[in-house]
Amino acid sequence: MAARIIGTGSYVPDRIITNDDLAEMVETSDAWIVERTGIHSRRITETGTTDMAVRAARNAMENAGLPPEELELIIVGTSTGDCLFPNTACEVQAALGAEKAVCFDLSAACSGFLFSLNTAKVYLESGAYRTALVVGADTLSKTVDWSDRSTCILFGDGAGAAVLESSAAEQSLWNRGVGDFIMGSDGSRGECLACRSTELCSPFLGEKKTSGFMTMNGQEVFRFAVKTVPRSIEEVLKKAGVTPDEIKYFILHQANERIIASVAKRMKQDSAKFPMNLAQYGNTSGASIPVLLDEINRKGLLKQGDKLIISGFGAGLTWGATLVVW
Ligand code: ACO
Repeated sequence: MAARIIGTGSYVPDRIITNDDLAEMVETSDAWIVERTGIHSRRITETGTTDMAVRAARNAMENAGLPPEELELIIVGTSTGDCLFPNTACEVQAALGAEKAVCFDLSAACSGFLFSLNTAKVYLESGAYRTALVVGADTLSKTVDWSDRSTCILFGDGAGAAVLESSAAEQSLWNRGVGDFIMGSDGSRGECLACRSTELCSPFLGEKKTSGFMTMNGQEVFRFAVKTVPRSIEEVLKKAGVTPDEIKYFILHQANERIIASVAKRMKQDSAKFPMNLAQYGNTSGASIPVLLDEINRKGLLKQGDKLIISGFGAGLTWGATLVVW
């Protein structure tokens, strides 16, 4: 059995916040933000994670040509759902009318879509389910302290989605589908990027002092990313017996232009093979990879048999890389 991506979709909110807008709120400048990150603007939601996830999901289902009643599994990679329960995937199910689907969320911050994609792949390949919708959706705008210039300049909101179908024939004939992957986690370094906004609350406890906003050691996260991302890509390529030159696009988590440039350099690959959209959207966490994948797909840049690497990293710490044969 192979798990093949048969459709993609995405949604970003209409409201654009530019670097100049932020410079009116905190002591920063367009020049500083562009030089250090490559980000020019970001989108901010007024409706929340579920609404964005549903819009991206509808887009992907339409692109795949799959009726909602044929969906058997929905996984939403998010760490910023609108509520603790029900999960976002159940809300997407209700909005789509995908009554047969089993639904759950997966929390792995910016690695959320990648971890969800690999999870769906394993379910489909096992034969447990035949079709799956995988969504990456996040509202980082509600986790950042908008008076903290070291974090508020980085993030934006959005959602992206992919529809997968299992197929025995595709695997044997073309070797197409979501292929080898590697994933990793290091909870001992969780404090360098954290958001402790779900506080304990009961009559049995004293007053709580948790900040609620995201805290980040930017330099530590940067060092982690430039080391771990290329290493995980090299590992998955080795596992699959594929060379970097055979890869058409490296679809990396959109956190910082300098991180992506450093990975391209280390892998001795042309930077044109590393598409980016962070200039317009900033870091949209779990949405960044599927939004970029959808843009490339809709531009008609993907042909049958093209090899892609999808690679993400984020809070946890978490990271991973997956080979996809289109
Ligand atoms: N505008 C102007 N000056 C600023 C700003 C700002 N927005 N932010 C920080 N500065 C100042 C600092 O105060 C510091 O001043 P000082 O030298 O007087 O102390 C100076 O700029 C340099 O600060 P650094 O933190 O050293 O800047 P750096 O070059 O490391 O860039 C950045 C910071 C962009 C955050 C970088 O470290 C980075 O991109 N790290 C990775 C972050 C990331 O990817 N996070 C998301 C992970 S994915 C997830 O799961 C959410």
